[in-house]
Amino acid sequence: MNIPYAHYQESADFLRTKLGGFTPRVAMVLGSGLGYLGDLVESPIIVPYGEIPHFKHSTAPGHKGQLVFGTLAGKPVAVMQGRIHHYEGYSYEEVSYAIRVLRLLGCSTLFVTNAAGGVNWNFRPGDLMLITDQIKLFLESPLRGENLPEFGPRFPDSSYLYTPALQELARRQARKLDLPLKEGVYMYFPGPQYETPAEIRMARNLGGDTVGMSTVPEVIVAAHCGMDVLGFSLVTNMAAGVLPQPLSEQEVLDAAEAAKGKFSSLVLACLEGL
Ligand code: HPA
Repeated sequence: MNIPYAHYQESADFLRTKLGGFTPRVAMVLGSGLGYLGDLVESPIIVPYGEIPHFKHSTAPGHKGQLVFGTLAGKPVAVMQGRIHHYEGYSYEEVSYAIRVLRLLGCSTLFVTNAAGGVNWNFRPGDLMLITDQIKLFLESPLRGENLPEFGPRFPDSSYLYTPALQELARRQARKLDLPLKEGVYMYFPGPQYETPAEIRMARNLGGDTVGMSTVPEVIVAAHCGMDVLGFSLVTNMAAGVLPQPLSEQEVLDAAEAAKGKFSSLVLACLEGL
């Protein structure tokens, strides 16, 4: 099933009526427990997803389900407080729908964050990881089906999904803040069940450093329509089998809460440095 270009336009047209001439430049998609950055937006214009034609709702815990437009660190932003996931029953095209709408509204950069399980032995819960690349195995592409050339080409390059200059900016800002920043590859698993220890061993062997249930479809779509992308994982837990204990959603939310301060200072510094 393909979403027609007209739907994206209708969503964007509706949002323009709310924005009174404001043009967002940076789209921000924030993961579990990290959506509070939207609360820091100055002169916010808040639009619940449910009001926007063709928009899907988020049901995941820790996700509010609204767009916040305004100024953050001096930059015009559109913050998605809450994202939708494939495990909620949506297609990958639907999961990444909002990215294209924000592109139509004027966003040329995507900041994306997620809560993730640590696969790399050198990682610890609470670590921040700059995403340098991603692995998508268990996922049909969000670009499957008829290509919409208004957004981008049939066969987009994926060599630099995460924009090298933005990675450099993140390293620089982390150094300035004296914040340790890990780097690595984010590997997608569809969930909602957490991975098995065997799957995590596989992920490690294939080059994954963190695992999670988001981000990858949105980044494919953002790159397809020519957006620059900066991504961070917050390691909320060690992935299955790394420690002799089961994983819990509460652990993920608690770790996200505990890392709020350093996480937001890094993201804000990156916005400032744009
Ligand atoms: N696996 C998948 N998704 C996650 C995890 C994990 O260990 N932690 C937070 N999101």
